[in-house]
Amino acid sequence: MTKTFTLGPEHDIEENQSKGYELPHLQVFAVRRDGLLYVYKNDCPHLNINLEWQEDQFLDMDAAFIQCSGHGALFEIETGLCISGPCQGEHLTAIAHEIDAHGQIVINVPEEMLDN
Ligand code: FES
Repeated sequence: MTKTFTLGPEHDIEENQSKGYELPHLQVFAVRRDGLLYVYKNDCPHLNINLEWQEDQFLDMDAAFIQCSGHGALFEIETGLCISGPCQGEHLTAIAHEIDAHGQIVINVPEEMLDN
């Protein structure tokens, strides 16, 4: 079983910017790179905490990588692979998404991914 959520307008996220979303039993964030959107669960594979430094701030200073505020792990924006830090070699959980006819970001997640 999957659950569908509408995050918000895709134009809310500009190039090299990120935005977090709090959904019922699930926190996710989206990043735009080279025009494409990437959506991940807001859950660092190191200690399973939220990644952002401040609200909607998921990227490092150069907006080159996703960076965890816990211990500075760096993740590739396009793949979610951790390339540096205590969870090197692990991945963020990618979430498939689509843009609907009204320009809204819509995600479909398996119910197992939802927190209790
Ligand atoms: S909790 Fe993310 S790097 Fe430690």
